[in-house]
Amino acid sequence: MKISIIGSTGSIGKNTLKVVEHLRNIEIEAIAGGRNLTLLQEQAETFGVPIVCTAFPELCSELKSITNKKVLCGIEGLNEIATLPCVDKVVISSAGASAFFPLYNALKNKKTVALANKESLVAYGGILNREIPERKIIPVDSEHSAVFQCLEGKNINEVRGIILTASGGPFRDRNDLSKITLDETLAHPTWDMGKKITVDSATLMNKGFEVIEAVRLFRIPPEKIEVVIHPQSIIHSMIEMIDTSVFAQLSYPDMKLPIQFALTYPKRKVSLLKPLDFTEIEKLEFFTPDFEKFPLLKLAYKVIEKDGNLPAILAKADEIMVNKFLEGKSSFLDIQKTVIKVVEKAPYVKEPSISDIQEAEKWVEEEIKRRE
Ligand SMILES: NC(=O)c1ccc[n+]([C@@H]2O[C@H](COP(=O)([O-])OP(=O)(O)OC[C@H]3O[C@@H](n4cnc5c(N)ncnc54)[C@H](OP(=O)(O)O)[C@@H]3O)[C@@H](O)[C@H]2O)c1
Repeated sequence: MKISIIGSTGSIGKNTLKVVEHLRNIEIEAIAGGRNLTLLQEQAETFGVPIVCTAFPELCSELKSITNKKVLCGIEGLNEIATLPCVDKVVISSAGASAFFPLYNALKNKKTVALANKESLVAYGGILNREIPERKIIPVDSEHSAVFQCLEGKNINEVRGIILTASGGPFRDRNDLSKITLDETLAHPTWDMGKKITVDSATLMNKGFEVIEAVRLFRIPPEKIEVVIHPQSIIHSMIEMIDTSVFAQLSYPDMKLPIQFALTYPKRKVSLLKPLDFTEIEKLEFFTPDFEKFPLLKLAYKVIEKDGNLPAILAKADEIMVNKFLEGKSSFLDIQKTVIKVVEKAPYVKEPSISDIQEAEKWVEEEIKRRE
């Protein structure tokens, strides 16, 4: 099988390369990253990849100066990598909603996409479902991979609902969130991930995005999706059938498993994970999320009920505020305060086009600047 990877230099991208090395029967035709050109070049050498791409056109000549591979740049380069005729599967693991364009083009060209990027699905998933109803997406996000695996062989009409599990993040048991530091936020109790998604896990925005992703991926209404806090992160999500039977997918928390499943699907192969030892797991706990302490989860439900351009507005406002927090320019609680206000004030479009979404994202940028 031949694949390309968009976002190879990130957390999911590096894990994808570990899985490719382990599986041995996959050829990588192209890889794309952002600013980490040295790592991109090293990856291309190690894996014998003929084409490399940076998402940033201003870095094109620098990339050309450090590699003898074919170099592509910018959004055109990403789109080319997503649609290479010889490629069977495209892994999209870059960060941010700009992943939408390569995703859209890959699906239009009938590629199977192993999708880790969540912002593109949150912001543009309605458009994808409308315009490419037969799209082949295999989710890499662990919760959606679990649901996808549980749904195999089931009739969707016999599914009562989806139960998404959440670790609860580092502040599950903390009452006062006003003095939280960046270091505390980045110390996730069970998962090792990129910075943006780690902050989103601490605010539970990530779980809110996952509710929206589940609506998009499985075409199931939000009221049929429940979130349950499960601190051990052993059950990655569940589905409940109309007869009350529940199916779950369990493993130690390690993104290499959902990545591998997305690469080998519909087959399964021996993985790099150690088998679950139930005697080692002392307990599996479940709690109701605190919607008052983590209002962004509640907001995500409200937003996907109305849908339209609101999920894109939510995603953009969160992206800007998380970046500000990462740069030390705002506090942890500022993220939720500002995101809620921006979404409340947003001009609503019910059936947005791609340009309506782009306009909404621009409006969010300006609105947050106005509030500074
Ligand atoms: N990490 C996880 O466990 C996990 C789990 C589920 C879902 N996800 C989702 O997967 C995506 C990636 O997460 P991550 O944790 O791997 O993030 P990450 O470690 O921050 O990596 C982001 C990747 O995207 C590249 N990139 C940055 N800006 C870009 C742009 N404008 N266009 C194209 N590529 C760009 C980065 O390149 P450089 O580093 O070279 O700049 C890097 O390769 C996110 O949507 C996240 O929500 C992640």
